Formats: sequence, C-alpha cells, structure tokens
Amino acid sequence: MTPLPDFYDDIEASLAHLWRLLEEGPRLRRNAFHMPALATVDETGAPQLRTIVLREAEAVAGTLRFHCDRRSRKAAEIAATGRAALHGYDSASKVQIRISGTAMLHTDDALADEAWAGSLVMSRVCYGVAPGPGVELASGDAYSLPETDAAIALGRPNFCAVVVTATRLEFLFLDRRGHRRAAWTREGAGWTGTWLAP
Ligand SMILES: Cc1cc2nc3c(=O)[nH]c(=O)nc-3n(C[C@H](O)[C@H](O)[C@H](O)COP(=O)(O)O)c2cc1C
Repeated sequence: MTPLPDFYDDIEASLAHLWRLLEEGPRLRRNAFHMPALATVDETGAPQLRTIVLREAEAVAGTLRFHCDRRSRKAAEIAATGRAALHGYDSASKVQIRISGTAMLHTDDALADEAWAGSLVMSRVCYGVAPGPGVELASGDAYSLPETDAAIALGRPNFCAVVVTATRLEFLFLDRRGHRRAAWTREGAGWTGTWLAP
C-alpha cells in the first residue's frame, strides 16, 4: 500500500502542502491548480463558475492572481461584490483545495502593468476581441481579434489582473485509510486551522 503522505495528520504540514500545490500551479501545466475554477456571485445572487489560469500564488501574503478582461461578467461581479472563491481537485494526489476571500481588480496600476508586460502575445490578443466578451453574435465567427503588434497593444485598457486575498482555505485529502479534511481562517498575518469531519 502507498505510504501515507508526510502531511497526513499534521495540520501545519497540510497547510504548507496546500500552498506548495498552489504556488506550483502557475508553473506546472498539468497541475490541477494551474486551471482552477473561479466562483463569483452575480447581480441576482446566483453563483457563477468558470475556469481561469492561475498566474501566481503567494503563501506569505495569502494571495492568488489571475487575469481577465475588464469587460467580462466576472470582472463586473468582482467589482460589485469584492469577493471570489477558487477550487481545484488534483486527481493524481487526491487533494481538493477550496479558497474564498476578497478580490480586487487591478486595471491601471503598477501591478496591472507588470502583469501585462509579463503576458505572452498570444494571451494579450484576447483583450482586443471585438465586440467584448459575452456580447451576443449573429454567427459564431462574428468577432475579430487584433493582428498587428500595434492593434494588440490597444487591448491593454481591457486587461486586468485580479488578486484574491484568501480569508478561508479548505483542504481535503482522500485516502481509503481515512480522508483528512482541514480548514483555516486568516487571523492577522497567520492562519488558524482546524480538522473537520470529511
Ligand atoms: C482552460 C481555460 C482557461 C481559461 N482561462 C481564463 C483566464 O485566465 N481568464 C479569463 O478571464 N477567462 C479564462 N477562461 C475563459 C473563462 O472560463 C470564461 O469562459 C470566460 O472568461 C467568460 O467568463 P465570464 O462571462 O464569467 O466573465 C478560460 C477557459 C478555459 C477553458
């Protein structure tokens, strides 16, 4: 039988493992936390979910960053509520992570400039889509994307980096010998955790 992981029955190690998975996510394309699901709440109170690419996670700050179009529904929902949640499940290591927290759009500041500068051209192109994301089309191909460097640069005002500051984290490890579930809430600069019944 596979040996139990080091973090089993060690809540501090479980938290460290959770952040290691999140911090590795942006670099490792096959990591489940490379493309977590992002949840927001819309103007009717209904939950909305979609996949995003996690660009950066920072354990010390407790933050996660992704990018989106400021014309998108998710940007409007984050602007209206200031809240978001993220979820991922890594079937290889049998770990589910749930994150909820506050969320802030960065459009015109240094953080957004740096994020834009660090984006690949193939990503920047998306921010020049016309009409904007979510607009109804007469046919599936009735939209355009910028083709020249100058036209791609014009998409910058549509770009925003979103930083989620986690206020609650939840970790679930599945194992036949006994699942382990834990949750943490942010207390100042640190986390207070507890085991939960799975
Ligand atoms: C693999 C994958 C990665 C995606 N990454 C992003 C992303 O990083 N940012 C983003 O805004 N949308 C991303 N999308 C598209 C969203 O899932 C969604 O369809 C789109 O942004 C519209 O969402 P909204 O109307 O809720 O704003 C991705 C979709 C897939 C399938």
